[in-house]
Amino acid sequence: MLGAELGNDAKPTGNARVLRLRIPPQPRFGKIVRDDVAAHAAGFGISATQLEDFLFAVGEAIANAIEHSGTASAIEFRCRVDAEKIVATVVDAGRGFRPSATTTTLPIGLTERGRGIPIMRACSDIFALRSVPGRGTAIVIGRYIRLRHEETSAAS
Ligand SMILES: Nc1ncnc2c1ncn2[C@@H]1O[C@H](COP(=O)(O)OP(=O)(O)O)[C@@H](O)[C@H]1O
Ligand SMILES: [Mg+2]
Repeated sequence: MLGAELGNDAKPTGNARVLRLRIPPQPRFGKIVRDDVAAHAAGFGISATQLEDFLFAVGEAIANAIEHSGTASAIEFRCRVDAEKIVATVVDAGRGFRPSATTTTLPIGLTERGRGIPIMRACSDIFALRSVPGRGTAIVIGRYIRLRHEETSAAS
């Protein structure tokens, strides 16, 4: 686990648990962080589907910070989970960019590029993106934890 490798700072705060990691911008850390988050979220009643969506979104945010930030500085990662929701923030101190209309909708057809941010939006209940060219990018991704019976009644 990355926690063991880099100093996992997971603290219970009231009924919440917070995980903080500093991630070197190297591709291998994407999977390690997803595994750490899955372990961190255990015991809070998150269904497998919800967790899968959340990890998908988090993975895209980390992949972008690794791929596009253009800096060797560590990525700051934080994940807070309580009985109601799980929220992650991914902050890099890289080149930043100007979000445009193209970063809100999925590209048509087989286009490989430009899917990450639309996927993050689609897989989250809470989403915020702030990027300042020359300064860096911060992304917030959150999901409300629905109890199993709520999921069932929402689907019917
Ligand atoms: N952390 C980041 N730092 C700098 N640029 C970013 C960052 N995240 C996203 N971008 C910019 O937004 C674009 C869209 O991101 P995304 O939807 O994930 O598509 P993709 O990664 O396939 O290009 C990227 O191509 C990049 O130009
Ligand atoms: Mg991407």
